[in-house]
Amino acid sequence: MSASSTFEMEVADSLPPPPDRTGRIPAVAGESLLRALQRAGAPVLSICGGQASCGACRVEVEADWITRLTLPDKVEAALLEALDDPAPGHRLACQLILTPDLNGLRLTLAQSF
Ligand code: FES
Repeated sequence: MSASSTFEMEVADSLPPPPDRTGRIPAVAGESLLRALQRAGAPVLSICGGQASCGACRVEVEADWITRLTLPDKVEAALLEALDDPAPGHRLACQLILTPDLNGLRLTLAQSF
């Protein structure tokens, strides 16, 4: 993979300790958002191992980014709908595959909302 396929995302509450609760993390095109978050040491959970069945990896994408993402498939959409307080910006990090056009993606981890 070439260097041009790497990029960064802005992730709220990814870097303890407070008050510095926002950080930029590196990402590689083709990997899941969950993988990038885990590699960066962000406090994101993955109970089902990325099988879209636990909802623990839920993130909230900022409004400006919602329409720039691929739509969730039926499995992801059904699980997001079944979780508490569903919202249009919610996505499963394990199901969101990163592409270079997502450079600068802004999101918040589930335990923060
Ligand atoms: S890790 Fe379980 S739904 Fe994403």
